[in-house]
Amino acid sequence: MALLPIITAPDPRLKIKARPVPAVDAKVRRLMDDMLETMYAAIGIGLAAPQVAQASRVIVLDVARDGEKPQPLKLANPEILWHSPEPITCNEGCLSLPEHYAEVTRPAAIRVRYLDDQNELREMDASGLLATCLQHEIDHLDGILFVDHLSLVKRGMILRKLAKAKRGRAPVPA
Ligand code: NI
Repeated sequence: MALLPIITAPDPRLKIKARPVPAVDAKVRRLMDDMLETMYAAIGIGLAAPQVAQASRVIVLDVARDGEKPQPLKLANPEILWHSPEPITCNEGCLSLPEHYAEVTRPAAIRVRYLDDQNELREMDASGLLATCLQHEIDHLDGILFVDHLSLVKRGMILRKLAKAKRGRAPVPA
C-alpha cells in the first residue's frame, strides 16, 4: 500500500466529473487500499478518488469512532437511489479544505447502490454521520465540494483563505 498526496482546493482537478470504473479489478482494489491508508494517515473519515488525482468514481470511508473497531468501506460507482425527505445538519470538513468547517444540511438518510471491492453489486441504507459522509464523498465525484452547499459569501471567504494559504506554501523561486 502507499500514501497518496491529497489535493487541496482551489484546484481544477477537484471540479471534474469522475468516470465510472468498468469493473473493480486488481488496479481499482489497489487504489481503494491506498486511499484508505491515505485517509487514515490524514485522520479523515472519507476520501474520494479525485482528491488523490484519480478521475474515477471510487470512494472510501470509515465513520467508526475512536476506540471502536474500524469499519472501512470501499465503494465504486456509488449511486444514490433514494433519499429521505427529512434533513440533517452536520458540521462538515474535508481533507481538501484543511482547517475549514461549516454546517451543511443534507437528507438524513439515503440508499446507495455500488460495486464493492469484489466487484459485487450491493445496496446500503445509511443514516446519520454515514449518510452525510457518503453524500459528501459522492459529491466529490461530481466536482462538488461541501463549500458549494454554502452561501456565495461563505464559500468565497473559505476559498480565498485556502488560496492564500496555498501561495504561502509555494516554493520560493530561485
Ligand atoms: Ni471532502
